[in-house]
Amino acid sequence: MRILPDNEIIKKLKCPICGSAMLMDENTGASLFCGGGRKHCYDFSASGYVNLMPPGHSASGDGKAAVRARRDFLSKGYYKPAADALADILSERLPRGAFVIDAGCGEGYYTSAVAERGFITAGVDISKFAADAAAKRAAVSGVGNNSLFAVGSVFGLPLFDGSADAVTNIFAPCAEDEFCRVLKDCGILAVVYAGPEHLWGLKEAIYDTAKENDGRADMPKNMRLLEERRVRFDITVEGNADILALFSMTPYYWRTSPSDSEKLSGLERLDTAVDMMIAVYVKE
Ligand SMILES: C[S@@+](CC[C@H](N)C(=O)[O-])C[C@H]1O[C@@H](n2cnc3c(N)ncnc32)[C@H](O)[C@@H]1O
Ligand SMILES: [Zn+2]
Repeated sequence: MRILPDNEIIKKLKCPICGSAMLMDENTGASLFCGGGRKHCYDFSASGYVNLMPPGHSASGDGKAAVRARRDFLSKGYYKPAADALADILSERLPRGAFVIDAGCGEGYYTSAVAERGFITAGVDISKFAADAAAKRAAVSGVGNNSLFAVGSVFGLPLFDGSADAVTNIFAPCAEDEFCRVLKDCGILAVVYAGPEHLWGLKEAIYDTAKENDGRADMPKNMRLLEERRVRFDITVEGNADILALFSMTPYYWRTSPSDSEKLSGLERLDTAVDMMIAVYVKE
């Protein structure tokens, strides 16, 4: 049976059409409806996510194959130290039960890691395949009732002003103004992006000359930076399927020539650094 999200989360959602508060249909638990005059209704999917994209905005984002590759790779635990580091930062700064929005949550690997620390979470992603996989992961991880997943854009989150204690934004578009709108005063934003040596071994396997990553162009400009934590560790990716799944999660997948991509075919073991930066900002 689908696990219903806690009412505390529902209270933070706003109707993407009229901006009114949302209520659960208590009789069925199968949909949300808004308190506006038109009672806009949004059905939960079988897996438990809800589509809160305003009408007329076509949702796209990661496709089914990309979401599946990310889910399969992350499920093996290769990035667990990064998920732990992010959850540690939130645990150091916020009490249990604080409300965390994962903006651009993908298939919810980090969202569930955060929910497992006792936070209430809402994951928003523009891809319905991602929201679907994230809802399934939360249920399997036993955090289905303190998580809610919605299809929506990070540039127009279906959540009330000042509703969140924290926003996490991991390898997804950073919408500083929108994150500030949904954050409480003194709320925090954790932006995760590739550190200089992220996936160095993968780049060495593909390119003749591997180059270090530059920082991210769309970092927050108006919020105050509290700290920047570097999470660097080495992994061995076993098996060609996992190596190709990792490759497909990266921007190199789209940029690499067929002849360079071909270098990965038949590769059964890849040693690489994982290098992530977690920049933590505060809304003042
Ligand atoms: C590289 S993936 C990262 C997913 C996840 N945060 C992780 O690290 O596993 C980027 C995600 O951002 C989503 N995305 C892209 N544009 C978006 C937007 N405007 N609003 C919400 N999500 C978006 C994609 O669908 C995809 O799931
Ligand atoms: Zn409405």
